[in-house]
Amino acid sequence: MNETLKTISQRYSCRSFLDKMPSDAELTAIANAGLQAPSGMNRQHWQLIVVKNKDIISEMEAEGLRALSEFPDKALYQRIMSRGGKLFYNAPCLIMLAVKEAFPKGAELIDLGIAAQNIALAATSLGVDNVHCGFAAFCFAGGKAETFKRKLRFPEGYEVGLAVLLGYGNERGTPHAPNPKKVTVIE
Ligand SMILES: Cc1cc2nc3c(=O)[nH]c(=O)nc-3n(C[C@H](O)[C@H](O)[C@H](O)COP(=O)(O)O)c2cc1C
Repeated sequence: MNETLKTISQRYSCRSFLDKMPSDAELTAIANAGLQAPSGMNRQHWQLIVVKNKDIISEMEAEGLRALSEFPDKALYQRIMSRGGKLFYNAPCLIMLAVKEAFPKGAELIDLGIAAQNIALAATSLGVDNVHCGFAAFCFAGGKAETFKRKLRFPEGYEVGLAVLLGYGNERGTPHAPNPKKVTVIE
């Protein structure tokens, strides 16, 4: 197995982080890997925001949980609360991927997913644990959306996409096993 395949096979979703920040050099390399992602017509309708500020991360998490608790369907909120009541798992740092709508609508989210996975794989390759965090969008679901857009300096016209949480795990997790039934070969 070459290094790329090894990194892909080693990536797992980390859901318990130590209080230890990756270095600035690592964070820069990881963000650059996100920027290296392909995008339709090279539109790059993304803005990567590296958030290292503990207070902002805590404030966002509290607001995300609060907004989620008010959703009519309580199942997800109850599931998260039963697993420790965390959206960000004490991650010291996250990269927020903000996104601007493209044409056709929704295409920008494909670009964003690819950039997020570049970030996750670059982090894994450097020994920085990570997890994609779609739930970061809940932080923007209530009345504090504009506050967080301002604090995170979203460019005009950009909305929340997803975040990738970064740091060092309390213990190494196990990647999920690939399911060979999900590949069909037509000969
Ligand atoms: C777009 C996307 C959003 C995700 N959002 C979350 C999230 O908000 N919280 C979380 O704990 N895991 C999240 N995950 C991680 C998935 O649950 C995880 O990838 C899946 O269970 C497979 O496990 P593995 O990544 O450890 O192989 C997300 C994954 C993707 C691709």
